[in-house]
Amino acid sequence: MRILITGAAGMLGQDVCEAAWAAGHEPTALARSELDVTDDGAVHAAVAKARPDIVVNCAAWTNVDGAEGSYDAALAVNGPGAGNVARAADASGAWTIHVSSDYVFDGLKLTPYVESDAVGPISAYGRAKLQGELEVAQAAPASHTIVRSSWLFGAGGSCFPKTILRLAAERDQLDVISDQLGCPTFTGHLGAALVTLAGAPPLGVLHVAAAGDCSWFAFAREIVTAGGLECEVRPISTDQYPAAAARPPYSVLRSERGAPSLPHWRQGLHQFMSQTARAAA
Ligand SMILES: NC(=O)c1ccc[n+]([C@@H]2O[C@H](COP(=O)([O-])OP(=O)(O)OC[C@H]3O[C@@H](n4cnc5c(N)ncnc54)[C@H](OP(=O)(O)O)[C@@H]3O)[C@@H](O)[C@H]2O)c1
Repeated sequence: MRILITGAAGMLGQDVCEAAWAAGHEPTALARSELDVTDDGAVHAAVAKARPDIVVNCAAWTNVDGAEGSYDAALAVNGPGAGNVARAADASGAWTIHVSSDYVFDGLKLTPYVESDAVGPISAYGRAKLQGELEVAQAAPASHTIVRSSWLFGAGGSCFPKTILRLAAERDQLDVISDQLGCPTFTGHLGAALVTLAGAPPLGVLHVAAAGDCSWFAFAREIVTAGGLECEVRPISTDQYPAAAARPPYSVLRSERGAPSLPHWRQGLHQFMSQTARAAA
């Protein structure tokens, strides 16, 4: 199967490429420097040249707080940029797998969000990601899968575990938010699931996130323990840690559509720790 990956140098993009190679495919991996998804003509030319069966769109503006002050720039990538990818894929007979986010929800539900739940983003980033979902569905009405995932972390990018490991090595105490709940998802697991999905992608929205859920506080405590660090992690509330963008207080994702199930987030964390230890050795 021919797979084209956009945003291929990103945290998830790298793991999708690796999973594609591991599954015996020859991916065409295009980083932002090779393909800017906001350039419609370039996207069409790249897709026409690669003649893929599947396009996995990992390109995105992912600076959640930065999107509040730069909405137009965030929207260009996450909205029309995503639409460009899906339109070009559809025009060349390829299926689009587009990656979206738990931040399309308002987080006011108290039970896991499933695919048919009403969306209601509370941040500029969430609104831009939702616009991307709409543009992908419009551009490739019969040939798209929108995969929403949550709280990604991986060896190939800046992520929460890396930040906690760095801070916990420098400080005796860390205050971490305990009133936001989500599913910390290892990009190694999500990348492999996306490549599996590429074999028989279902039409529409799919929730694919790690099993289990926790708060940032519980996640941080587990990271500190896994890193063998001596640092006290203390719970704080969201209003004690002001940020530009609002985050959904609850964004646990589950599937009512039989999406591939991923391993528990603790297993993802342990794989992440071994991968980063190997890379540092
Ligand atoms: N991170 C999370 O917690 C999380 C949670 C749920 C869903 N997601 C979604 O998962 C997907 C992958 O995110 P990630 O965590 O892997 O983020 P990431 O590491 O920031 O990767 C995104 C990649 O897209 C590239 N990019 C930005 N603008 C582009 C453009 N105009 N054209 C082409 N490429 C462009 C970035 O390049 P530069 O680095 O050069 O800008 C980066 O390599 C995104 O759709 C994101 O919304 C992420």
